[in-house]
Amino acid sequence: MALLPILHYPDPRLHTRAKPVAIVDKGIRKLAADMAETMYAAPGIGLAATQVNVHQRLLVLDISEDKSQLQVFINPEILSQEGACEGEEGCLSVPGIYETVKRSERVKVRALNLDGQPFEVEADGLLAVCLQHEIDHLDGKVFIEYLSRLKLSRIKAKLTKHARITV
Ligand code: NI
Repeated sequence: MALLPILHYPDPRLHTRAKPVAIVDKGIRKLAADMAETMYAAPGIGLAATQVNVHQRLLVLDISEDKSQLQVFINPEILSQEGACEGEEGCLSVPGIYETVKRSERVKVRALNLDGQPFEVEADGLLAVCLQHEIDHLDGKVFIEYLSRLKLSRIKAKLTKHARITV
């Protein structure tokens, strides 16, 4: 396994729309394992392939307390969504920024597992929010883009300044 470098906002590659995984093979299983290792090391609770500059529709997440329940979603699709909730989100691609985002409260998602078999989950709470956040990444969208233009430009300025100092 290997740790993969994570793209940081405003890297334009984060705006790439990922392509469906054509076949779940050894390469995809290796990618999922590397992404899981990268997510756990960060540490984070979710990671989309887009964030490691691989533009295929694959995401990993683990919302368990003891980090023992890795979930892999390949070609995830939101079948239905209902309700509304608001919560503070962060992102490994936007370090140090936490902002409140509106999401659907419940989502039904269909995806393929690591054996290429389809499955469905009905998610609410943190899992629902996490799935929406990660699927957004696969569509090229970063959570802070839900904020007002003013707030977004302040965050951009802050991140750019930070990048200048640390690079
Ligand atoms: Ni994120």
